[in-house]
Amino acid sequence: MSRDPIRIAPSILSADFANFGAEIRAIEAQGADWVHVDVMDNHFVPNLTFGPQLCRAIRPHIKTVMDVHLMIAPVDASLQAYAEAGADIITAHYEAGPHIHRTLQAIRGLGRRAGLALNPGTPASVAGPLIDSVDLICVMTVNPGFGGQKFIDMTERIRSLKALIGDRPVLIEVDGGVTPETAPLVAAAGADVLVAGSAVFSGGSVDDPSVYGRNITAIRAAAEGAQR
Ligand code: DX5
Ligand code: ZN
Repeated sequence: MSRDPIRIAPSILSADFANFGAEIRAIEAQGADWVHVDVMDNHFVPNLTFGPQLCRAIRPHIKTVMDVHLMIAPVDASLQAYAEAGADIITAHYEAGPHIHRTLQAIRGLGRRAGLALNPGTPASVAGPLIDSVDLICVMTVNPGFGGQKFIDMTERIRSLKALIGDRPVLIEVDGGVTPETAPLVAAAGADVLVAGSAVFSGGSVDDPSVYGRNITAIRAAAEGAQR
């Protein structure tokens, strides 16, 4: 069975924070399919990044897809701000509050695609009652909060979710520790979107962006070689 091409979504968590506009233009010119934006609140996760104003500021530089990963709690009161900032996809964590169904409905109600993120310690089965309320499931392959962490093998989870999704138009995104070494594992299991921070940005810069291109190509080639 042929599969859609793998999408590579570099996380700007690993970009130069003093130069987001140029970094985004560079990764898109070098083949990025989406731009992954990691929003952290120093509460749900032990790290602090940026908020809706930064998202709004970088939006004009993004020509592809703005994929906003909210690692914040509570989340509902902030959804409108990220929608108005221009997010195409807004992903919220199952673990971030008691009313994830309401959260996903609210994201769709704002006209955005709704993503559900699952931490490594959360069973895949929680996605069952939510499957018709999501456009994307983000399988965390690290505990969220930092870039550059070691990959946690969640391939069985990806296979379970793939079976649950069936022929629904729901994408599986994998986030954390994705490299040319780990990408084949998740691609073979059924991942559609690979988030990669350190593996895309390491060794490159806006003055030497071809390194980003080589890094993206290496991840994509490794993944596509393993797709069923
Ligand atoms: C982790 C973030 C990831 C992370 C990926 O909390 O959600 O997007 O930045 O970074 P790498 O690819 O370096 O693991
Ligand atoms: Zn992320």
